[in-house]
Order: sequence, then C-alpha cells, then structure tokens
Amino acid sequence: MASATEAINALFLILFLQHLLFTTANDSIPVPADWPQQFHSVLFINRSGNLRKTDLWYDWPNGRNFNIVQNQLGVLTYDLEWDNGTSFYYTLQPFDKTCKIMHFDVGILRPSWLDGANYLGQESVDNFLCNVWEKVDFITYYEDVLTRRPVKWIFFDGMVSHVMTFEVGAVLEDEHWQAPVYCFDEMKNETSEKTNAFVLESEDAASAGFSHGMLMREMPHSAYAK
Ligand SMILES: *[C@@H]1O[C@H](CO)[C@@H](O)[C@H](O)[C@H]1NC(C)=O
Ligand SMILES: *[C@@H]1O[C@H](CO)[C@@H](O)[C@H](O)[C@H]1NC(C)=O
Ligand SMILES: *[C@@H]1O[C@H](CO)[C@@H](O)[C@H](O)[C@H]1NC(C)=O
Ligand SMILES: *[C@@H]1O[C@H](CO)[C@@H](O)[C@H](O)[C@H]1NC(C)=O
Repeated sequence: MASATEAINALFLILFLQHLLFTTANDSIPVPADWPQQFHSVLFINRSGNLRKTDLWYDWPNGRNFNIVQNQLGVLTYDLEWDNGTSFYYTLQPFDKTCKIMHFDVGILRPSWLDGANYLGQESVDNFLCNVWEKVDFITYYEDVLTRRPVKWIFFDGMVSHVMTFEVGAVLEDEHWQAPVYCFDEMKNETSEKTNAFVLESEDAASAGFSHGMLMREMPHSAYAK
C-alpha cells in the first residue's frame, strides 16, 4: 500500500520536474522582438571610422522604408526603398542633383526578419544589458533586456549602428516619400543607366551614404516579404 503511494508520488514528482525543465528550457532561449509596423529611429553609424547619422523611417503597412543619411560634415543622401523592389538613391540641392535607381528582387524587411536568429547570450553594450543574436553570419543584433528595444547592430563587414531613438508608431508624411523628378527623367532612358543615371560624384559618396540600406537588402531572402 505504502509503496504504491510512493510510486505514484514519485511519478508525479518526475512529471512535475519534467514540466519544470521544459518550461525553464523555453524561457531560457529569448527571441528578438518583431520590429514595430511603423517606427522612426535615429541611428549613429560607424563604418571604419566614417561617421553618419541616419534617420530610419520603417513603414511596413505602406510597403516603404527610408534611410536619410547625414554623412559627418558631408553630403545628405536619401535611400528610399519600396516593397516592389525599387530603391531610389538620391541627393537634393544644395548638393548635386543625383539619382540612382536600383531594382532588387526582394521588398523591404519583414517585421519578423529576425526570426530564426541564433541566440548568443547577454552582453552589456552602449551601457545597456542586451540579449544578443546572430542572423546567418550577416548581422549581430543587440536588444535591451528590459525594454526589448534594439540598441545596436553590427554587420558582417564591421559597420556598426547605434540606435539613438526608437519612436514606435512614428510615420513620415506621404509628401516626403517622393523621389525628385530627375530620378524619373533617367528612368525613361533605360540605356543611359550606366552613364547618366550614375551621376554620383564618386564611388565613395555612394558607398559612404547608402551602404546601410544596401546592406540591409543583401540580407538573405527569408528576411523579406518576397
Ligand atoms: C516549449 O516550446 C516548444 C516549441 O516552441 C513547444 O512545443 C512546447 O509546448 C513548449 N513547452 C512549454 C512547456 O511551454
Ligand atoms: C569607429 O570605429 C572605429 C573602428 O572601425 C574605431 O576605431 C573608432 O573609435 C570608432 N569611432 C567612434 C566615434 O565610435
Ligand atoms: C515601385 O513603386 C514606386 C513607388 O510607387 C514606383 O515609383 C516605382 O516605379 C515602382 N517600381 C516598379 C518596378 O514598378
Ligand atoms: C534620353 O536619350 C536620348 C537619346 O539618346 C537623349 O537625347 C536624351 O537627352 C536622354 N534623356 C535623358 C533624360 O537622359
């Protein structure tokens, strides 16, 4: 009699411990928060000592994403991305009027683009205690443990983005999502693409200003809507 009760107790104990183990196991592997549907972020970006400030306007419901990039004491550049795969890279006056159009076979990043990222543990960065993930050797992503806001990310090539503001729900008005008219002049002349359309002063200007958005679009396809 006593041994039967003991056996049942032992069974329950084992089931309980198993339950505890599974629950704990699940709790101990954090996943990154999805990006909000719409937000505005100011990023400080350092690529090999070249510094820039980027205004990132992520707008998933409208299928668009904007990087407005101020190079330190330099050119202000615009990187306007549409979910149909078209990106406009341009500069406005008082800088030279330049525009470069690129077509990608992916749209903008999905809010859940970090799904499947590999958890690396916790680390203190920029004075925040962060959970850290790595996505396919492409990006290392740091998220504040307390608020679950992104703090920083590092691309495989060493470019570092520090997240200075993160305004969830902020939306840039429609009128600002308009590439200048000279982008469309160029578009009519498909053949001129290699000469006229690429009127950026130098390769340096292009890579310095636009690399963040371009890098993002090089992310493996599972991160995108298409
Ligand atoms: C743990 O996670 C797995 C996979 O996500 C799930 O199937 C399982 O139900 C979870 N277990 C508990 C106890 O939450
Ligand atoms: C930028 O990154 C370089 C390394 O690539 C580093 O030496 C430098 O201190 C950084 N500058 C700032 C302002 O963080
Ligand atoms: C994608 O959408 C933008 C904005 O509506 C438009 O300017 C562009 O021409 C479109 N690209 C293609 C390939 O349809
Ligand atoms: C388009 O191509 C034609 C013929 O080559 C040329 O005359 C015209 O100036 C070009 N337009 C633009 C906007 O580049």
